[in-house]
Amino acid sequence: MFNSTINKISELKSELGHKAALLNHARKLPALEASDRLIVDHLKRDGVYVTTLEKLGLGSTSDLLKASYNQLSRMTDANNSHLTKRLPQIYTVTDFPEFSQWGQEQKLLNIAENYIGLPVTFQGVHLRKDFPNENQFGTLLWHKDSEDRRMVKIIIYLSDVEEKHGPFEYVPLSLTPLHSLNYYRIYYKLWKSGYLGITDEQLKEVIPEHKWKSCPGPAGTVIFTDPKIALHHGTLRSEDRSALFYVYTANPPKRPELCTQYWDDTFAKPEPYQEANSVTVFR
Ligand SMILES: [Fe+2]
Repeated sequence: MFNSTINKISELKSELGHKAALLNHARKLPALEASDRLIVDHLKRDGVYVTTLEKLGLGSTSDLLKASYNQLSRMTDANNSHLTKRLPQIYTVTDFPEFSQWGQEQKLLNIAENYIGLPVTFQGVHLRKDFPNENQFGTLLWHKDSEDRRMVKIIIYLSDVEEKHGPFEYVPLSLTPLHSLNYYRIYYKLWKSGYLGITDEQLKEVIPEHKWKSCPGPAGTVIFTDPKIALHHGTLRSEDRSALFYVYTANPPKRPELCTQYWDDTFAKPEPYQEANSVTVFR
C-alpha cells in the first residue's frame, strides 16, 4: 500500500514534469514545410500517415535501398516452414551508415520533434522479414508499443505489400478517443491480455472490422505511425513481407530499457561486408 502510494506520487511527478517540458519546448520546435506539417497533423489526428520514399525525396534514399537489398539478399534462410509459429527474422542494422544516415535526415528528426513536442533521439532501425502464419501471436495481435509516452515509427516496405503479404493495419484514433468508452473497452482487453495483445475477434467486439485501416502498398511505401497511441498489428499473411522499422522517441524516453533492442545484441547484427570496390561497409 505504502509502496503503491509512493509509486503513484512519483508517476504523477514524472507526468507533471513531462507537461512542463512540453510547454517549455513548444516555442523551440523546428519550422516545418507544409508537406511535413501534414504528416505531423495526420499523426496527431489518426496515429498514422502513409507516403512514399519518392515523395519524401531524401538524398540518402538510394544508398539506403542499395544497402537494404544487399542485406536482404544475405539474410540466412529462416528454415521455419515446418513450424506452426513462424517468428520474424529481425536484424539490427543501426550501426550501418547507410541505414543510420537515412534515419538521421534532418527532415525526419524535425517531423518527430514536432510530433513528440520534445527534443528527440533516433533509437535505431530493424530490418525485418515476416513470414506466413495461420494464427495470431506476437505483433500479429492488436497491441500498442510502450517505449515512450509518444513515439514515431517509420515503416518502409521493401517488397510490394498486398493483402496476402500482411500489411500494417491500425484503428484510427478518432474511433477510440482518450477517455471514451471504446478507449476503456480496448484498454481493459489489453490489460486482460497482460498487454500482449488482442485477436481480431476480440477487437471486433469493440470496433467493426470495416473501420480498421489496412496499409497495403508497393515497395517504397512509407508509413509514419505512433505505435504507442494507435492500436495496430501486422495482418496475418500467406507470403513473406520485408520492411525497415525506424524508431524515434523523446530524449530521454520514458522507458529507456525498452529502447536498447534497437542498437544492442537483442537481435542479430549482420556481418560487415565488402563492396565491389573493396571498402568495408560496416563502421
Ligand atoms: Fe507494434
